[in-house]
Amino acid sequence: MKVMVTGSGGREHALAWRVIQSSTVEKVFVVPGNAGTALDEGIENVDIDVMDIADQISFAITNGIDLTIIGPEAPLVAGAVDQFTAAGLRCFGPGKSAAQLEGSKTFTKNFLKKYDIPTAAYGSFDDVERAVDYARTMDLPQVIKADGLAAGKGVVIAHSHTEAEKTIRDMLTGNRFGEAGSRVVIEEFLRGEEASFTVIADGTRFLPFASSQDHKAIRNGDKGPNTGGMGAYSPAPVVTDAVHERIVNRIIQPTIDGMRMEGHPYTGFLYAGLMIDDAGNPFVIEYNCRFGDPETQPVMLRMQSDLAELCNHAIDGQLEGQRITFVPEAALTVVMAAGGYPDVYDRGDVIEGLEDVVNGKVFHAGTRLENGRVVTNGGRVLGVTSLGGTVSEAHRRAYGIVGQIQYRDRYCRTDIGYRAIERESRLV
Ligand code: AMP
Ligand code: GLY
Repeated sequence: MKVMVTGSGGREHALAWRVIQSSTVEKVFVVPGNAGTALDEGIENVDIDVMDIADQISFAITNGIDLTIIGPEAPLVAGAVDQFTAAGLRCFGPGKSAAQLEGSKTFTKNFLKKYDIPTAAYGSFDDVERAVDYARTMDLPQVIKADGLAAGKGVVIAHSHTEAEKTIRDMLTGNRFGEAGSRVVIEEFLRGEEASFTVIADGTRFLPFASSQDHKAIRNGDKGPNTGGMGAYSPAPVVTDAVHERIVNRIIQPTIDGMRMEGHPYTGFLYAGLMIDDAGNPFVIEYNCRFGDPETQPVMLRMQSDLAELCNHAIDGQLEGQRITFVPEAALTVVMAAGGYPDVYDRGDVIEGLEDVVNGKVFHAGTRLENGRVVTNGGRVLGVTSLGGTVSEAHRRAYGIVGQIQYRDRYCRTDIGYRAIERESRLV
């Protein structure tokens, strides 16, 4: 089988790496990919833009691609899967109508409310004055979100009503978020510990992947502005067996059932960003219509099952009777970024020390090949991922590898996994 994966981040490198392990997969093409996907055996990059669906479709037809997995949200929300399917191709992911779960926060909040799925109280507005009035009635802190896709930057936690008002005015009248900012959602602030819970769904049934947790803030201690994610680990200890049951019964099952009843059956990866309160009750913070980045990296390192086969079963509505298994070890990913990220940063710096990596896998994100050398090409550069008997051990191994990789102005957090590590140290 020939498989195509679209995207160029750490998520796509990890998906492609997992897919090529399958005995039935002879080749994986990554569109457009990065230096990591260019260098891995059995994987080849194709220089087509991730949003150029028409070109991807002609490549798939010409090259006999049997299965395409769309990595990022933007092509999913734009309807890539519908277009592939209309061209008679097998493509894994939600269609445009199901991808609204990520594409519109208002759609999702209204859906969650209708099906009684736990989430923060909210209001949704396109009128500035009504939004400001609503915000004044809400406790602090409160959360203000641009309605559409804003690459993780459309969320502001306001600690005063003045800040809330300024944010609302900025989003609704400024041009910073374009279309995504023509509507805002104002939410109650949820307290607890966050976890990521992803399933593969076939429209009716679903199978959960191992739980994970990411670190969104740029600095140690989860301080500073949010990024795409500075590290992640799996499993998330906050997702105990009892919490797992609640997530499945209160959140995932009614979501898959509800989407089917709404006429938007959900096929694809569905990622729930959750808040788990002190009593172990899960609440939906957001849905994503794709796998998480960097959560994919530790989850794929732990996964034993055949990913391409599972995607094919899901496309055919045949997940019943399938299983996903994971090694019992923990996995942890440290994101190595370019200095200055998430604001301005340089590209084109040579990366050394990628050879002779033992005790882990380095997934590439913002990298490219230049005259045979790997150079930086983005804010998040690498996702160094290791397994360990405990999160602490996975942490030690991953940072061992981080220490051997050099490039100018490299930056990473040094405390990835600290909550899990604290828990482990309380247990001994
Ligand atoms: P989102 O893009 O909706 O995932 O929001 C980004 C981050 O903002 C989340 O991962 C949370 O850390 C935080 N956040 C969003 N909504 C809430 C909320 N209602 N309560 C507390 N934190 C939130
Ligand atoms: N790591 C967060 C996300 O993928 O949305």
